[in-house]
Order: sequence, then structure tokens, then C-alpha cells
Amino acid sequence: MTKNFPPLIIALDGPAASGKSTLGRSLADALGYLFFDTGVMYRAITWIALQHDMDLRDEMVITGLAQNAQIDIRPPSKDDGRACDVVIGDKDVTWDMRDGSVDANVSIISAYAGVRTALSEQQRRIGLRGKVVMVGRDIGTVVLPEADLKIYLDASAEERAKRRYHEIIARGDQADYDEILKKVIERDHIDSTRAVAPLRAADDALVIDSDKISAEQVLTQVIALCK
Ligand code: CDP
Repeated sequence: MTKNFPPLIIALDGPAASGKSTLGRSLADALGYLFFDTGVMYRAITWIALQHDMDLRDEMVITGLAQNAQIDIRPPSKDDGRACDVVIGDKDVTWDMRDGSVDANVSIISAYAGVRTALSEQQRRIGLRGKVVMVGRDIGTVVLPEADLKIYLDASAEERAKRRYHEIIARGDQADYDEILKKVIERDHIDSTRAVAPLRAADDALVIDSDKISAEQVLTQVIALCK
């Protein structure tokens, strides 16, 4: 398959809190591309299900929800660190869907085949327009296997938990490092062992371990590959 250079479709995958969103956002800004964080879609479905006390173990019900939910992703209306507004009905859920209850449950619903089909079809349609940096777990393997550049951003669980801890504290919320570490490990385990579209690096992905290099260094390295 011929790949475009400079890359028009960039897939960025990796485990929880590996810095994908930070890198994806800066990269999209630098290239003038659309930044699309697919995790917000799985989070939004989980948030709605929790709000309505739906049974998360009921695959049929949750799949129906994913097929019909109207999740609106808009340009950011506030300068509070958000990459976009996520709106459900008339409620801005941008930060609500990042809370602990969503973190703890999102991997359950994202393992469902029907949920994945419904959401990945929408992601693929947007991605194929090009000039996009799409971030997730299965972008390079399933959603956009034809991506021109695939990056798999990794880091140790401890480093990732530390980053997530500082993110939460910076927002002014309370955080417990050990609890975050436990949840990160649990979520990665479910994401990487699920039957459908498990988290893994595509064979043709460039794997970057961000444990010992700064976010700026990772960005410089990736931009060099794009220009
Ligand atoms: O920001 P963080 O890395 O913690 O997570 P996220 O990217 O917002 O994704 C939340 C969850 O959605 C993941 O743990 C996966 O279970 C699911 N997800 C997925 O299955 N496939 C994607 N393409 C994106 C997210």
C-alpha cells in the first residue's frame, strides 16, 4: 500500500495516560490537522449509561445506546485545558466524563463488539478525509490500518499513573496515586486482552517509549518524521 508523505492520516495509539492526547494535540496544531481523540466517544457512552443507571453488563442495551447516542464534539468553548467540548443533549460533559467512575467502567463497554463497530465506523469516516491525527487504542490496527504514519506511545504504568495524578491535581481535584496506578493497570489489562480490537502496536507502527524523554522531545521526534 502506498503511503503519503507528508503523512495525511496519522494514527496514534497507546495505553492509558501515555501522553497520546498531549502529543496528538500538539502534533495536529503543528501540522494544521484535525485532532480527534476517539477515547471521548467511549467515555461519553459510559457517562450516559452511568447517568441513566443502565446495566453496563448488558451488551445489547449498551450497544443500542452506542448506535443511537448523539454525542456532539465541538471546538473548545473554554480555555481550561480541553481539546474540544463534548456535549450530550445540552450538557457539557467534557470534564464529567473524565471522572473516576467513567475511568473505572469505560473498558467494560469498549470491549463490546457492537459498541466498537458503531463508534469505529464514525471514526473511520472522519479519518479517511485526511489531515487528521487520530488518537486511541486500535486506530493503526483496525480503524485506519491504511494510516500513513502510525505511532504507538508507551510508558511504564508508574510513569503514566504519575502523569494522570498531576493532571487531576492541576485541575484542582483530589487524587490518590496508588488508586490511580491500580486503575491504570486494570484498564490496560482489559483493553489489551479483549477479543475485539485489543490494544496493541500495529506491526508497522513506530513504538516510542516516553519514560525517559520529555513530551517536547517526543513531539520534536514525531514532527521530524512528518516534514
Ligand atoms: O486518556 P486515557 O488514555 O486514560 O483514555 P482514553 O483514551 O480517553 O480512553 C478511555 C477508554 O476508552 C480506554 O481505556 C479504552 O477502553 C477505550 N478506547 C478504546 O477502546 N478504543 C479507542 N480507540 C479509544 C478508547
